[in-house]
Amino acid sequence: LIYVFIVDCDVTKDEDCVYFCGHSLGLQPKSTESHVQQVLQNWKQNANQCRYVTSLPLVYCDNQAKKGLSELVGCYENEVVAMNSLTTNLHLLMTSFYQPTKDRYKILIEQNAFPSDYYVVASQIRLAGYDEYESLILVKPRQNEELFRMEDIIEVIEKEGDSIALILLPGVYFITGQAFDMKAITESGHKKGCYVGYDLAHAVGNIELHLHEWGVDFAFWCTYKYLNSGPGGIEAAFLHRRFDNTKMKNRILQYIDNFAILDFGPLNPLDTSWRGHKESNRLEMTSDFDFAPGIDSYRLSNPPALLVVCLIASLNEFLEAGGRRLREKRFLLTGFVGLFNNPPSKTSKVTVDIVTPLKFAERGCQLSIRLSCPMHKVWMELRKRGMIFDIRKPDVMRLTPVPLYNSFYDVYRFVDTLRSVLDESNN
Ligand SMILES: Cc1ncc(COP(=O)(O)O)c(C=O)c1O
Repeated sequence: LIYVFIVDCDVTKDEDCVYFCGHSLGLQPKSTESHVQQVLQNWKQNANQCRYVTSLPLVYCDNQAKKGLSELVGCYENEVVAMNSLTTNLHLLMTSFYQPTKDRYKILIEQNAFPSDYYVVASQIRLAGYDEYESLILVKPRQNEELFRMEDIIEVIEKEGDSIALILLPGVYFITGQAFDMKAITESGHKKGCYVGYDLAHAVGNIELHLHEWGVDFAFWCTYKYLNSGPGGIEAAFLHRRFDNTKMKNRILQYIDNFAILDFGPLNPLDTSWRGHKESNRLEMTSDFDFAPGIDSYRLSNPPALLVVCLIASLNEFLEAGGRRLREKRFLLTGFVGLFNNPPSKTSKVTVDIVTPLKFAERGCQLSIRLSCPMHKVWMELRKRGMIFDIRKPDVMRLTPVPLYNSFYDVYRFVDTLRSVLDESNN
């Protein structure tokens, strides 16, 4: 399905390279290039008309990503949209879902959250006039452990939930690859009256998701990792359709000028922009804002067609492969942890510690491992031999066999190459 291109290592052929970095940047689908060419051609031939009258009218192209996205996250098509970047989408959604009051103003997130999420959350707290340190509840693993225990998170929610406005957690934690029990956390948050949202950067296209059924309030994710949309690709967001009370809001707006004084709950408080306006009368260009339904009202600008078609090309690959087949292959591929004899090499004492949970339901295809020797030299040596993966400081190697394009032979080659690197080391 997908090309591998080798840079910065000693191997000379694609086939000698093992790409285990899909958790960071997915590979390019073969069909991406032709999708991009079609947009360029369409624009060249049809000029302004390319936006309205061709087989893929570019001004509406983001709608065509809805089917693939909704299948991947388990929701209705009108609950999901491709737009902006992950971080922009988090800011936008927090304008609705973080509406602190004197008694309920805290946000629960995980310790060592991805920095960009932390910065957004802290800045939204400050913008709302609250103190960042007093308003954050950080859930963390127990002492001497590095995985989060779901029962601990639920205990914190039960104890502190009355003061929590928003629970914001990852679907899959980016360092360890641990999958969170989103269903249980959402249920427990809702029982205490909190809103619950998820960063799905490492979950989407990786683990099975049922956002609608689980009742998740909102979610946001990037698409350049498991969704192979290309660096800086168009990203996406989900809003549960029970919040689609835009009609009610539009009706109220007809009668009241200053709607800021009304409590709309988690409605979009922004007259976002002309792309968030109802599609049918958007081009009437009036200054009255007529909200598009649900998540579509958060769209800001014209969809960047070149980026959107890269995402569509990749979503088509997922639709063709089918979720069930990908899950089965993921189960088998990640079983390669069993290939790590410990120690893996006969001549070296270095051992491998698997950080990621071993239970299938508690992880996706990312495996984080730790070696009992300094990691950097081993990493560099593996890289020279075409083994592409990344590290997270201080000492975790992230290896991801992605079902869509990695093979069982890749897995075998990786383990075998690691063994020879350790054999040749002095550890
Ligand atoms: C877990 C997580 N959250 C947020 C981001 C930031 O995403 P973006 O730069 O696309 O806004 C990333 C990027 O890698 C991430 O891994």
